Amino acid sequence: EETGKSGYDHFMLKEIHEQPRALRQCLRGRVDELGGQVELEELAGVRPSSVQFVACGTSYHAALYGAELFREAGIPAQAFLASEYVTSPPPIGDALVVGVTQSGETADTLSALREARQRGARTLALTNVVGSTVARECDHTLYIRAGPEIGVAASKTFASQLAALNLFAFAATDDHDREAIGALRDLPSTVQEVIDDSTAESVAEAYHDADAYFFIGRGLNYPVALEGALKLKEITYRHAEGFAAGELKHGPLALVTDNSPVIAITTGDGELARKTVNNVKEVEARDAPVIAVTDGQSDIERYADHVLTIPETQPRTAAVLANVQLQLLAYHTADQLGRSIDKPRNLAKSVTVE
Ligand code: G6P
Repeated sequence: EETGKSGYDHFMLKEIHEQPRALRQCLRGRVDELGGQVELEELAGVRPSSVQFVACGTSYHAALYGAELFREAGIPAQAFLASEYVTSPPPIGDALVVGVTQSGETADTLSALREARQRGARTLALTNVVGSTVARECDHTLYIRAGPEIGVAASKTFASQLAALNLFAFAATDDHDREAIGALRDLPSTVQEVIDDSTAESVAEAYHDADAYFFIGRGLNYPVALEGALKLKEITYRHAEGFAAGELKHGPLALVTDNSPVIAITTGDGELARKTVNNVKEVEARDAPVIAVTDGQSDIERYADHVLTIPETQPRTAAVLANVQLQLLAYHTADQLGRSIDKPRNLAKSVTVE
């Protein structure tokens, strides 16, 4: 097992560092060298008029992000927790139903897809495992090509899911936005930059003993906030919650104290960033420590105690970069607490019961 870790203390840290390579594999042969064109042979002719995503855990956060990409392209899209999809199935109409599952074996996700198929839907699997049950059962499969992931808490597979969802959205909506496709093509090197320059370890040192951690973000950064909180709770066993930044004032603000850091993800310089900065001012006024993940475009640094920086990029790729900082924050917090990072208590890599 030690050899498998290639000198890293944990598989999770190794897998975080493998993300540039995993992303390169995901994008290889699918984005043309000059940008402006995404080709997915496996999805030739797939042009859904609406999309329903079903998924669990980290993959559900990827699904929320994927649904937002389609909505931005004007295609109705929703993400459902797979277990809830089965409990109260929504009207499907002519939606393409997409199962997002790293392992391809999660029982809840397989059940949701079976339910959809039984009601006449076409289905697509977005998975990492060739020949998995989901790949065998769906009409189409898009592999994320992340390579095997040993750490129970997903890291590189989440980044690869986000990249693959971008490919899917560009191809299925005939989107040729050169800048956005170029940013996707450059993702392996920008992720490498974030890994090389991250100061998450020193932030983790300052806050590894906090009572609770709250993550906030808007738009594409909302699923990143949810994932940041899930990662932290999975491997540190500390209380962590992710909120849409605008919801903070509708209840969660009551929980904020001077020992509950608020991790705010703000990228870009538009309306979303401005509003999130305002939310940060609200928590700062209640003495909560603020950790900002920022590309430096807003003035959030003025209100933050610590800053985790990412390079300036397109909003959809910024979400992937911000997540890398949150993975490192969770990892180093768990490491300082001496947790069993690769095999957290009570959790399994793949859950095959409903
Ligand atoms: C388990 C794992 C999670 C994972 C979820 C969905 O609960 O512990 O890390 O996100 O299953 O897994 P999947 O293979 O469907 O992506």
